[in-house]
Amino acid sequence: MSATVLIGAQWGDEGKGKIVDLLSPQFDVVARYQGGANAGHTVCFGGRTVVLHQIPSGIFHPHVRCVIGNGVVIDPVALLEEIRMLESLGVRTVGRLFISHMAHLIMPYHKLLDEVGEEARGAERVGTTGRGIGPAYVDKFARVGIRVVDLLDRQVLCRKLRANLEAKNELLRRLYSREPLDVEAIIEQYVAFDQMIDPYVTNTVELLNDALEQGQRLLLEGAQGALLDVDFGTYPFVTASHPTAGGACTGLGIPPTAIRGVIGVAKAYTTRVGNGPFPTELSGEEAEQLRLRGKEYGATTGRPRRTGWLDLVSLRHAVRINGIQELALTKLDVLDSLEEIPVCVAYRIGEKITTVFPTDVQTLERVEPVYEVLPGWKQSTAGVTDYGALPERARAYVAFVSDWLRVPVRWISTGPAREQTILCP
Ligand code: IMP
Repeated sequence: MSATVLIGAQWGDEGKGKIVDLLSPQFDVVARYQGGANAGHTVCFGGRTVVLHQIPSGIFHPHVRCVIGNGVVIDPVALLEEIRMLESLGVRTVGRLFISHMAHLIMPYHKLLDEVGEEARGAERVGTTGRGIGPAYVDKFARVGIRVVDLLDRQVLCRKLRANLEAKNELLRRLYSREPLDVEAIIEQYVAFDQMIDPYVTNTVELLNDALEQGQRLLLEGAQGALLDVDFGTYPFVTASHPTAGGACTGLGIPPTAIRGVIGVAKAYTTRVGNGPFPTELSGEEAEQLRLRGKEYGATTGRPRRTGWLDLVSLRHAVRINGIQELALTKLDVLDSLEEIPVCVAYRIGEKITTVFPTDVQTLERVEPVYEVLPGWKQSTAGVTDYGALPERARAYVAFVSDWLRVPVRWISTGPAREQTILCP
């Protein structure tokens, strides 16, 4: 039995798509366990760039079976679009993509509630992707959610949809002064998904456990990042699921004892989209330079990402709560032109210096990062594939991160393409 979890160790957008694609040849199954179309996993190969939102990034490897697990919230409209896009690129999905019966569905009212909820929060808004993720998980836990399996039974689907729409329309009208949604139109639209989605739907718990029993290798792909975890992230500025390694078991129905490895993906600096504390955030020209060099615009929403220095305190937190055993450090080349590179090694809170990530955002908002300033290498590392070919100072930067965290950096990404990667000795 062998499963490896791959998670984002920061606030998402670490480059998980590339690393999953890179590692896929070593795996038989790649499975997504949480989140939904809020994710944007970018994969570049053969001069082509493809952004996946719900389908696992292993799909470009024909021998790999891809699973969307029960922990994911599925937007059928976006999913069918994604399937069509892949098929148009010649990527076969039928017989290779499997969707859990138990995954919950994103409905049009979830997107609307996401939007009006954010509006109502005003300055306190989370800065969600607007994909209806939070409201869909709310319904799941309120036990009124509609699951993929419900699509397969028209009567059940209509009954659940009507009940939900009645309640949601009341909420929209009374609380948010919005027009009610058209029940019949939504029923018609979702009933039509039944046939389209049918070839993909299966009992993924059985599929995954069978695969484990047969000795197949599973890669469990997290979306977003550890610092957006609903418990361990910067609550309430988080997503509504568990991107951390623990989420892989509940989001797929595989036992913790099957997990043999945890890989963390982190950028060589830090970015964040949406609101919430970000201790090492830069402002002005410095922030803009990093954004431009790293092309830091959201893969799902196109929003400019907030940028800042590498924060080892938050990474230490991610290492601990996920049990990260190996790191993939991405976008090292983005730092190429810098004279000096500050790395945050502690937080100052008043008189106190700590390496413990605070549990509340009020504290996190007032921490002052303590930096160790490392010399830049001022030389291009773009596309370097050999560790020995990296400038000495770039190697020293990587070694500093690895020594501080006491986690080996196993991969270094020096560009968006698969081959622009260093496998470290
Ligand atoms: P939601 O997941 O759309 O509810 O958004 C909650 C928070 O998570 C917001 O700050 C989003 O910007 C952030 N977020 C959600 N998905 C991603 C992602 O894939 N990458 C980076 N941030 C994300």
